[in-house]
Amino acid sequence: MPDLHPDLPRAEFEALGHDVIELLADYYADLQSAPAFPGCQPADVAALFDAPPPDRGEPVSAILADWRDKIIPNSSRQGSPRWFGFVNGSGSQIGALADALASTVNPNCGGWRASPAATEIERRTVRWLAELIGYNPDCGGVFLSGGTMANVAALRTALCAKATWDINAEGLQSRNGAGPMTVYMADHETHVSLVRAVDLLGLGRSALRAVPSRKDFTIDVGALEQMLDVDIAAGSTPFCVVGHVGSINVGAIDDINGLADIAGRRNLWLHLDGACGALGGMLPELRPQLAGMSRADSVSFDAHKWLGVPYEAGCLLVRDIEALRRTYAMHATYLLPASDNEYSGLNYFDYGPQLSRGWRALKVWMTLRYYGADGIRTFFRQTMACAKRLHELVSGSDDFEVVQPAPLLYIYSFRWAPKELRGDDALLDQLNQRISDELQRRLLAFAMTTRIRGRVTQRLSICSHRTTVADIEATFENMRAIGQELLQGL
Ligand SMILES: Cc1ncc(COP(=O)(O)O)c(C=O)c1O
Repeated sequence: MPDLHPDLPRAEFEALGHDVIELLADYYADLQSAPAFPGCQPADVAALFDAPPPDRGEPVSAILADWRDKIIPNSSRQGSPRWFGFVNGSGSQIGALADALASTVNPNCGGWRASPAATEIERRTVRWLAELIGYNPDCGGVFLSGGTMANVAALRTALCAKATWDINAEGLQSRNGAGPMTVYMADHETHVSLVRAVDLLGLGRSALRAVPSRKDFTIDVGALEQMLDVDIAAGSTPFCVVGHVGSINVGAIDDINGLADIAGRRNLWLHLDGACGALGGMLPELRPQLAGMSRADSVSFDAHKWLGVPYEAGCLLVRDIEALRRTYAMHATYLLPASDNEYSGLNYFDYGPQLSRGWRALKVWMTLRYYGADGIRTFFRQTMACAKRLHELVSGSDDFEVVQPAPLLYIYSFRWAPKELRGDDALLDQLNQRISDELQRRLLAFAMTTRIRGRVTQRLSICSHRTTVADIEATFENMRAIGQELLQGL
């Protein structure tokens, strides 16, 4: 058998690196003109990769050819200025390069000794972000895969902090348990990640209590108080309230101070799900809406959304770092030496649910340094200006309908509803879905629908730093034109 080396000779590695950089540069160069959604179907894409596992190594040129010919043509371009689906960030170039650098060093960011610089960069990045959004910079914090896992990690921390018995020792099945442990959040905009959280924690979905929302989709704090009283009288043990900072359909921001007052009076944990909007704390103009964020016990947000850092980059901040340690610290003789020495640093495996961890912080740290806080603020304002422009277009037209207050952030829902069809909600539901489908089918943009108060509605998440007002105007006109065609075909 010929000698097999894991690594290439340096000159070959450099040449390969150049080839890869060319492919990356091609990708970015095409972003403006290539369709956001490739319009391919699952079975066709699956067939392209239908191959047995490789017994023998292949030339790297064949692997990269597949990247160019099979992978990119069948990939959605979430970095496109006309990608408005889910809440997907646009992916910074510096973040992409940071991922390559991070993978090269390949630290396991669970233990300090395996990741000295990486750990300190994560600690510093958490501190920067906390400071930038107006949270306590001395908080604990950890990068996770995304907002879902951040919510799971936050709720586990809340449970451990608020249960009157030792959750880690006895679990939810303890004889000392005090009735069903319950969590509260607004009913309309509850994100499904909270369902995942109660599932994974074994609390049961009935533990998630949906509090009536007000007209502006924020939680009704009066109704929350009443629900807490009723639940306690029925034997439940409320332990946590979750507030929205940027809700999934309309970007609503709950009355954070109102929630903090209730949580404080009743000894509840206040978690803010800021996956979409907590980073808005960087903007002075949003500070009034976000006042009180520093009073929350924990805040989660996604750097892979509005900050534009490549996936995955969720983050959880917890005001009292000890609460994280009490929840997650584990002891195993093979993880730590028998006694501390001068190399004993912060072990992130004691502050979050993961043991082995990739170096997510590097791409966040580099993105923040590269653009600076002012650069990021400019991007945020641009996305917000796009959402405001969309609201103007919808408000000023007679074939679209406003379904939410003026957008505070970059997520905006609205409905196509020409005068002739108003009142026929079932038909409008169907046609709104068709507009969204046609937009995808014609490769004009990628947008999705949702339901607002039960009705099918257009929903644009204008999260991309590459989107301009012109992209919004063109997408709106495309929706209108498709709507007109549908109307004529009725
Ligand atoms: C409000 C809210 N919370 C949590 C999440 C979950 O985040 P992730 O998809 O990163 O797990 C999302 C995702 O869109 C969200 O909008």
